[in-house]
Amino acid sequence: MRSFYSYLLLYISMILLLFCTSTKGYSDLEVLLKLKSSMIGPKASRLDDWEFSSSPSAHCHFSGVTCDEDYRVVALNVSFAPLYGTISPEIGLLNKLVNLTISKVELTGNIPTEMRNLTSLKTFNISSNYFRGSFPGEILTGMTQLEILDAYNNNFTGLLPVELANLKHLKHLSFGGNFFTGEVPNKYSDIQSLEFLGLNANDLTGKIPASLGSLKNLKSLLLGYFNAFYGGIPPEFGSLTQLKILDMASCNLTGEVPESLGNLKRLRTLLLQQNSLTGLIPSKLAGLTSLEVLDLSLNELTGEIPESFSALQNISMILLFKNKLHGSIPSYVGDLPQLAVLKLWENNFTGELPENLGRNGKLCNLDISLNYLTGSIPLDLCKGGTLQELILMDNFFFGPLSEKLGNCKSLTKIRIKKNNLNGTIPAGIFNLPSLSFVELDDNFFTGELPPRMLGDSLEMLKISNNLISGEIPPAIGNLRSLQVLELARNKLSGEIPEQIFEIKVLSKINIRDNNNTGEIPPSISRCTSLTSIDFSQNSLSGEIPKGINKLVHLSNLNVSRNRLTGEIPAEIENMTSLATLDVSDNNLIGRVPSAGQFLFFDDSSFSGNPNLCPLNDSHCPARDSSHGHAPCFVASKLIITIIMLIILEGN
Ligand SMILES: *[C@@H]1O[C@H](CO)[C@@H](O)[C@H](O)[C@H]1NC(C)=O
Ligand SMILES: *[C@@H]1O[C@H](CO)[C@@H](O)[C@H](O)[C@H]1NC(C)=O
Ligand SMILES: *[C@@H]1O[C@H](CO)[C@@H](O)[C@H](O)[C@H]1NC(C)=O
Ligand SMILES: *[C@@H]1O[C@H](CO)[C@@H](O)[C@H](O)[C@H]1NC(C)=O
Ligand SMILES: *[C@@H]1O[C@H](CO)[C@@H](O)[C@H](O)[C@H]1NC(C)=O
Ligand SMILES: *[C@@H]1O[C@H](CO)[C@@H](O)[C@H](O)[C@H]1NC(C)=O
Ligand SMILES: *[C@@H]1O[C@H](CO)[C@@H](O)[C@H](O)[C@H]1NC(C)=O
Ligand SMILES: *[C@@H]1O[C@H](CO)[C@@H](O)[C@H](O)[C@H]1NC(C)=O
Ligand SMILES: *[C@@H]1O[C@H](CO)[C@@H](O)[C@H](O)[C@H]1NC(C)=O
Ligand SMILES: *[C@@H]1O[C@H](CO)[C@@H](O)[C@H](O)[C@H]1NC(C)=O
Ligand SMILES: *[C@@H]1O[C@H](CO)[C@@H](O)[C@H](O)[C@H]1NC(C)=O
Ligand SMILES: *[C@@H]1O[C@H](CO)[C@@H](O)[C@H](O)[C@H]1NC(C)=O
Repeated sequence: MRSFYSYLLLYISMILLLFCTSTKGYSDLEVLLKLKSSMIGPKASRLDDWEFSSSPSAHCHFSGVTCDEDYRVVALNVSFAPLYGTISPEIGLLNKLVNLTISKVELTGNIPTEMRNLTSLKTFNISSNYFRGSFPGEILTGMTQLEILDAYNNNFTGLLPVELANLKHLKHLSFGGNFFTGEVPNKYSDIQSLEFLGLNANDLTGKIPASLGSLKNLKSLLLGYFNAFYGGIPPEFGSLTQLKILDMASCNLTGEVPESLGNLKRLRTLLLQQNSLTGLIPSKLAGLTSLEVLDLSLNELTGEIPESFSALQNISMILLFKNKLHGSIPSYVGDLPQLAVLKLWENNFTGELPENLGRNGKLCNLDISLNYLTGSIPLDLCKGGTLQELILMDNFFFGPLSEKLGNCKSLTKIRIKKNNLNGTIPAGIFNLPSLSFVELDDNFFTGELPPRMLGDSLEMLKISNNLISGEIPPAIGNLRSLQVLELARNKLSGEIPEQIFEIKVLSKINIRDNNNTGEIPPSISRCTSLTSIDFSQNSLSGEIPKGINKLVHLSNLNVSRNRLTGEIPAEIENMTSLATLDVSDNNLIGRVPSAGQFLFFDDSSFSGNPNLCPLNDSHCPARDSSHGHAPCFVASKLIITIIMLIILEGN
């Protein structure tokens, strides 16, 4: 009997073993090890603690793994560790999985259809990988519990799966950042539980289904970027009363902005930029009382900024640049309590800026360039100490720049060229800690540049075409981040301070058309970052420094229209970076070198130097003859001519 039982036991256990290997095959531990071996690609080997063990619960301690009381895996989270491999089909055996996050691990390959067995899934997050091929919609049909499907930022192609239209609990659906083509399925309007629908940044086409307007629980709707829809914004979207974010930027929208959008009382962000929207900005949009960000830039909108927008009391960002808007900037804009960013450039706005602009203490970024605005610049733009970018160029502003700007420590950019501003430049701006860009060209600024300059961040200083007088302050040498210095067409005089050439990063210096005198400082040759030098139209004297050939990145050298003397340094022949050279209209002597780089310059580079022998002139003496020979030669020619004339006269 004992032996019968032994045989029976053996028989049963063999059957069990057979059964197990044929239908289940692997324990969850083994499945995880299978997954590990497929997920770690050629370049990485993370998941270090996913190691074989005989303990039945060992895998429950693997990082990223959560088990239930039966040691079955219910949650798996593999994130932020580049693995580069694929997902093996065995994942389908983890059929107790509730939460699956495999994100930012650079996996590739297809989604295994075996995942259809993961019918308990609530979270399915495979965002930010390189999964490719079509998204196998059939795996979703059984996932009736699914709440989150996040496939954002992968390489999926083909049509959007319609199967998920049957999922009754789906709240979050993101297929954004893929290469899906075709239309947005009408059926998506069946997913009434949806709160987040992200189809942005794909290659979708066709009409946007108006039926999406019935998704009553939707809070975020993202359809913009790379998609190219036919037609416009469905007016039905005005029924999405829970909506907080509507992003339909850059997706080929035409037609008008529907008035009905004004019903979206909870909307905080409305992004419709970079489309071909036409017509007026509907004044009904004033109903968007929660609105914080409005971007209608880069469209073809006409008309004026609606008066009704004074109701948008929470708005912090208004972007309307590059449209065809006109009229004045309403004065209430200056009173909007949260306004931080106002960008209205390239429209046809006229009139003056609201004088209260900035008084809310929040203004950060103002760009109204390329309009027809006039009047003076409001005094309190930096009241809150938050102003970073002040961009007013190409308008008709007049009067002075407020001295207060010189105390605006938050400033990073001032671009106000091409206006009619006058008065002195506030001295403080040259000492602001974060200011990197100062562009004041083409105005009527007068006075001198301040003797104190300590702005560590200043990279561009452009003040050309003003009426600045006095000397170029040596303190410019303190601006150690300065790359571009343009002071052309002013009334500057005195010597060029050699301190400027101590700046390690200076690339471009232009002081054309001033009245600077003295010599070109020989120390210029130490400023090897220079690529462009324009000292033309000044009263510089002395010689072109021989060391100029140390400037191995120099591409343009213009010293035309000065009083330079001496010979052209032959060393220039080896400056292979030099593309243009202009030494015309000086008092240079000797012979123009003809070797090396000089082969690229024509006569016009050297003209207007009466005592300089031009290139290819056979009457000139050889270059290697002694210094000062050339004028003697010319002079002796002259004397001989005179003597001959006298002799001829005598006859
Ligand atoms: C799945 O994720 C949800 C949301 O983060 C969480 O509440 C739930 O406890 C998780 N379930 C399991 C089994 O980890
Ligand atoms: C997944 O793990 C990462 C760290 O590896 C963590 O930052 C993230 O919050 C986790 N996500 C979930 C859903 O548990
Ligand atoms: C999926 O589940 C079915 C039925 O439960 C089973 O027959 C099949 O082997 C499973 N496949 C995988 C890969 O898990
Ligand atoms: C998916 O996972 C990534 C990485 O953990 C996370 O940033 C993202 O918010 C998750 N998606 C959802 C919808 O929770
Ligand atoms: C994903 O798509 C991008 C853009 O088409 C491509 O450059 C990249 O090679 C693709 N990666 C994989 C793993 O398919
Ligand atoms: C983009 O819009 C224009 C104008 O409506 C239309 O002619 C064109 O077909 C649209 N592009 C696509 C890809 O639908
Ligand atoms: C405006 O913003 C404040 C602060 O964030 C908030 O309490 C208030 O409800 C908002 N008003 C509207 C109309 O949304
Ligand atoms: C501004 O108005 C002029 C004349 O009315 C028009 O030619 C021009 O296109 C308009 N510019 C913009 C940006 O709307
Ligand atoms: C600036 O210009 C205005 C008129 O545009 C003029 O009234 C004022 O006197 C000028 N100020 C200075 C300092 O030149
Ligand atoms: C330039 O400076 C010289 C010397 O200081 C002076 O004689 C001359 O008048 C100035 N020219 C102009 C146009 O200011
Ligand atoms: C050099 O400067 C002069 C005078 O400013 C100008 O006329 C000329 O075009 C410049 N030369 C080059 C090559 O740009
Ligand atoms: C230019 O370089 C060549 C080769 O290095 C050298 O022989 C020549 O003397 C150099 N010319 C001048 C003017 O320094």
